[in-house]
Amino acid sequence: MPMTREPLVRLRGVERRYAAGGAITTALHGVDLDVAEGELLALIGPSGSGKTTLVGVIGGLDAPDAGSVEVAGIDVTGLRSDALAAYRLQTVGFVFQSPGLVPLMTALENVSLPLLLMEKDPRDAEARARAALGSVGLEARARHRAFELSGGEQQRVALARALVKGPRLLIADEPTGQLDSETSAAIVGLIRSFRGRTTIIVATHDDAVAAMADRVARIEDGRLVAASRR
Ligand SMILES: Nc1ncnc2c1ncn2[C@@H]1O[C@H](COP(=O)(O)OP(=O)(O)OP(=O)(O)O)[C@@H](O)[C@H]1O
Ligand SMILES: [Mg+2]
Repeated sequence: MPMTREPLVRLRGVERRYAAGGAITTALHGVDLDVAEGELLALIGPSGSGKTTLVGVIGGLDAPDAGSVEVAGIDVTGLRSDALAAYRLQTVGFVFQSPGLVPLMTALENVSLPLLLMEKDPRDAEARARAALGSVGLEARARHRAFELSGGEQQRVALARALVKGPRLLIADEPTGQLDSETSAAIVGLIRSFRGRTTIIVATHDDAVAAMADRVARIEDGRLVAASRR
């Protein structure tokens, strides 16, 4: 791989302060971070250290008070609301602790949804959604409604929904936080299997997640304190 390759994600001097309960919390304090294209980065740190805030700023769910966020050549901090919504829809796939599926929709409909929002042809969307469900081993559950699936199956559908659009960046915030260790291991293996096809940032408390990463970045009190290559 050429050494000069531009990072997919580049943060410089990112600050995020919250005013709540009569106090100001500095959730991010001058964060500089580069993530290479195709890299799998685990973001670890104690509860309240700023992991969710950091991935939220990268994914365009939240705006920093200062600093710059660039993803896939897009100046995320400079986007107005329409462009920001398009960025979140097209460039980033999200997986959270809770799957957040539409309960009455089938697995296939849930996974098709982002493509339909992107105004793709419905038949093409269905075919791609079916392939994405196959990639998480759930083709046989395509016609099940989300509420009829187990927690682990729902999280696999959520992963398929995040990946169906072929996002440049996958952001996962505690993706195994609600799962038992065996189910977690399956999700970890799946995330790892997408490494290289997309760039992945996973915020986690789970050692098994950190162990599969190419690099681990540690955050404490809103500051990145260490990044180690595995
Ligand atoms: N919307 C908000 N309003 C005010 N303070 C907030 C808000 N969101 C986060 N914070 C504060 O910012 C800090 C960082 O929170 P964040 O959710 O990023 O931590 P985290 O590392 O993801 O923690 P956890 O591991 O518990 O998920 C915390 O002190 C938190 O209380
Ligand atoms: Mg969090």
